Amino acid sequence: MSVDLAVDVGSLRLKNPVLTASGTFGYALEYDDFFDVSVLGGICTKGLSILPRAGNNPDRIAETSAGMLNAIGLANVGVEAFCTEKLPNLRARGVTVIANIFATTVPDFVALAERLDREEGVAAVELNVSCPNVDKGGIEFGVDPVAAGRVTAAVRKATKLPVWVKMSPEAGDLKGVGIACQEAGADALTAINTIRGLSIDVRTWRPRIFNKTGGLSGPAIKPIALRMVWELSRAVKIPVIGIGGIATAEDAIEMMLAGATAVQVGTASFVDPLASKKVLDGLGAYCAERNIAARDLIGRFIQT
Ligand SMILES: Cc1cc2nc3c(=O)[nH]c(=O)nc-3n(C[C@H](O)[C@H](O)[C@H](O)COP(=O)(O)O)c2cc1C
Repeated sequence: MSVDLAVDVGSLRLKNPVLTASGTFGYALEYDDFFDVSVLGGICTKGLSILPRAGNNPDRIAETSAGMLNAIGLANVGVEAFCTEKLPNLRARGVTVIANIFATTVPDFVALAERLDREEGVAAVELNVSCPNVDKGGIEFGVDPVAAGRVTAAVRKATKLPVWVKMSPEAGDLKGVGIACQEAGADALTAINTIRGLSIDVRTWRPRIFNKTGGLSGPAIKPIALRMVWELSRAVKIPVIGIGGIATAEDAIEMMLAGATAVQVGTASFVDPLASKKVLDGLGAYCAERNIAARDLIGRFIQT
């Protein structure tokens, strides 16, 4: 029996709601030896900047009891190399590509969006206004409704592509940030990015990562992500895409019941490169068993 897994993220129809999260799946084709990545609803690229970035000094990651801390510092090939070296292969393979972009100024966000707008094969841009691991311009945009609205409006004007904005769990007024982005023309919100944490090596008394603090991700943040997706999805009219600790189909279903239109699998791909494919297969089996479409799950958890 065929099961209908398609979901609509605004004007963008995804063949299923399972995507991979930025920074945890490279530029996707690195995973092609494990499975055909074009079966996924989409992939989010590593955060792209105008110029290539080497990122922070090592150590850049540390395992924690229920996840990991990372302070990669947005190492990436730069938007030009992405467009000329990575995108053509992704396009040829029919992969739905969401370009995650990062900049420290509004004009640079605009320039990135304009560059990507000229390419075939980009389905949407995701604005990383919530990176906790860079000195300047990361999280500042994402914790302030006015700044988040400003960058969203500027990018909205610069591209015809759908604009997704990635929320920071560290925003004091998360709903305010989400509403500001919606009013500025965002097509969807993605939630959540990592939450800053610290880990100390008791043998050396030094932080386990060079940057001292790093973003916490993985199973530890799933309940926080669920709560935030639930709150956001009730506060805005645009779709919310759920991210945070999703490792199994059950996690993805939970996220959709909380209000997510689609989900992104992040840290779980480091544990098992097949994690996103397994989430997709499990979601398909769950929907087939209940004779429902994936979209029937969105926001349907029983609250009475
Ligand atoms: C190693 C690593 C690198 C990341 N790089 C980015 C990035 O470049 N841009 C971005 O928006 N989010 C980035 N993130 C955040 C993830 O996309 C995701 O929001 C977060 O890890 C929570 O999901 P998870 O618990 O499933 O990993 C990164 C996360 C990790 C672990």
